[in-house]
Amino acid sequence: MANKIKHKMGTTITEHLLLCEDECPTATGQFTRLLSELIIGAKLISREVNKAGLVDILGLTGDVNVQGEKVRKLDDFADQVFIWRMQRSGLLCALSSEENESVIEVPENLPRGNYIIIFDPLDGSSNIDANVSIGTIFSIHHSLGTSECGSIENFLRRGSEQVAAGYFLYGSSTILVYTAGQGVHGFTLDPSVGEFLLSHPNIQIPPQGKIYSVNESYSLYWNEQTTAAINYFKSDRNHLGKPYTSRYVGSLVADFHRNLLYGGIYMYPADSHDPRLSHGKLRLLCEAAPMAFIAEQGGGAATNGAQRILDIKAKDLHERTPLFIGSRADVEMATAIMQGKNS
Ligand code: AHG
Ligand code: MN
Ligand code: MN
Repeated sequence: MANKIKHKMGTTITEHLLLCEDECPTATGQFTRLLSELIIGAKLISREVNKAGLVDILGLTGDVNVQGEKVRKLDDFADQVFIWRMQRSGLLCALSSEENESVIEVPENLPRGNYIIIFDPLDGSSNIDANVSIGTIFSIHHSLGTSECGSIENFLRRGSEQVAAGYFLYGSSTILVYTAGQGVHGFTLDPSVGEFLLSHPNIQIPPQGKIYSVNESYSLYWNEQTTAAINYFKSDRNHLGKPYTSRYVGSLVADFHRNLLYGGIYMYPADSHDPRLSHGKLRLLCEAAPMAFIAEQGGGAATNGAQRILDIKAKDLHERTPLFIGSRADVEMATAIMQGKNS
């Protein structure tokens, strides 16, 4: 389906979505409106991110900045912006955020729709003060039904049931990458006109990469199989005949985006030392599953080492998972080594 649509560089996101609606029976006006709402939220966050270093200066007098707004931590701000907009969109019946313990239902006095959304409002937030790229990740499902709306079961779904997923990357420019199951498309915010313009149509991740991304400082706590897999990329026994390049930002969105464009593998394994990380660090529903949907739509793969990420049915809203994601051949090689089928 992705190839049927003629994607013209520079097309605005609205034109692109309308074109998709014409071509794809699954794309609805409701989905277009939902994405438009997310985009407004991201523009507001992008604006705040761009002046992050000024917060302390503007907020010197008792936490209130010169515009009279309360100064808030950026991840709290991002969370509130999305919750506020999403609840008023009329397109959702419930939402879940990394920052909130339970499901948030759309209040009864507000119109409700048939979608649910799970999001990580600010990913990589420890990087904010150093001007390092951060992002927002979202995952959209159809609600199981009207009565299930705010139930936890509505959210404990397989990633393969996602209607759409995407992320905003607040980097040297602000980028939106999304999939609705018709390929992966990237848009760059042109700040002079305030529009997201198509810059990366039909993104395909290179089948095999040259980059491996992992927080190497935890290598002491990896099990033997994980160590063997990562050593493969650092050895000269791989397809390059020399070690892969190591790149690690520490923001999943930024690390994933780079590898999506250049090829490679991102890994966040389980940690046998720290009981809190024995199932990995990344959250299945708001981080791993949406990224896995994008990776697969772009020709890549994503696994927890034993199972395809999109096949895992969540048992908990904030469930964590090990994640190996990126170029298909690299992910398959890492999996084979971890399963003792290759070394
Ligand atoms: P968040 O800021 O949403 O809590 O996510 C941080 C995550 C992810 O973005 C990143 O890849 C990972 O934490 C980095 O963890 P380490 O610092 O342990 O490498
Ligand atoms: Mn995150
Ligand atoms: Mn976060």
